[in-house]
Amino acid sequence: LRKKGLESLQVVQDELGLQNWKVANLGRSAPMTQIFSQMKTVSAEVRPLVGERVNQVKKEFEAALEEHAAAIKQAMLNKSLTSDAVDISLPGRRPAHGRLHPQTKMLREIYRIFGDMGFQVYRARDVETDEYNFELLNIPAYHPARDMWDTFYTTKPGVILRTHTSPGQVHVMREYCPEPIRVILPGMCYRYEQISARSEIQFHQVEGIMVGKHVTMGDMKGTLTDFARRLFGANARTRLRPSYFPFTEPSGEMDVECFVCHGAGCQVCKNSGWLEILGCGMIHPTVLRNGGYDPSVYSGFAFGMGPERISMLRNQINDIRNFWANDVRFLEQFS
Ligand code: PHE
Repeated sequence: LRKKGLESLQVVQDELGLQNWKVANLGRSAPMTQIFSQMKTVSAEVRPLVGERVNQVKKEFEAALEEHAAAIKQAMLNKSLTSDAVDISLPGRRPAHGRLHPQTKMLREIYRIFGDMGFQVYRARDVETDEYNFELLNIPAYHPARDMWDTFYTTKPGVILRTHTSPGQVHVMREYCPEPIRVILPGMCYRYEQISARSEIQFHQVEGIMVGKHVTMGDMKGTLTDFARRLFGANARTRLRPSYFPFTEPSGEMDVECFVCHGAGCQVCKNSGWLEILGCGMIHPTVLRNGGYDPSVYSGFAFGMGPERISMLRNQINDIRNFWANDVRFLEQFS
């Protein structure tokens, strides 16, 4: 029995075989175990001898099983070490690096410049009411100036997507009145436009507003030209032209000299040599009053700029659609 048992163990190759062998040789119905149950048939003198011998073989079996199990485990480990081997001398795969969107960077640059000038960042909502987007900005229903903004309406009457960041002016004024204000309001705007190289249905604006007791048009001009110089360099030339907006009086527009290209063939600057980057003006008394400020005591200026325009000028991008087309060949150029 001993010889047979130990021999049959040597041919076992795997875990399952070990299991089976254990049942057959050490289990309850194994021949060895059977001997114990027949002990009463053995005479009293030889009984201890038989018992001792059987126990000895049993211990031997157990030791052999343990040893063989360890050998099998080692063999399997050796096998997997060769078959699953990794060549650590292979060069690694380079992970794809994400990067900031060019407009995220542009916006951060603008925040930094205005931050240095003491402006805080304030966020207003993208989904607006007709009241804030138009009425409170001195643009009543049927006012012809509404044609300046082609609006996305929602199925809910009076709820629209903001066409500009100017409604934020009234939100901040109502929140801070009667404190003085100096904030910028960045965000996405939406217009129901024919998409082309020059216009998108969604784009950023950065609104700015300053309200206080002695805020003048000189402050506005100084702030905006200083901004342009900080952004485009000390030699950047700007010009302030008169314009019209219902919520500012007087109103203006600021152009920057087109430094990337001049004359005929300049797509970014429409060949004029100048690019309009913002609208501005002294806040209309009606709008100040809507914000809670007494226009005989307080005054202020506001402006709204187009960061996409600024990027296009700076980086010679001649199609605004690139910004939201998610084409990595475009985006990867801004690392
Ligand atoms: N909201 C105007 C526009 O979208 C820009 C503007 C902002 C003009 C603030 C004056 C003052 O064109």
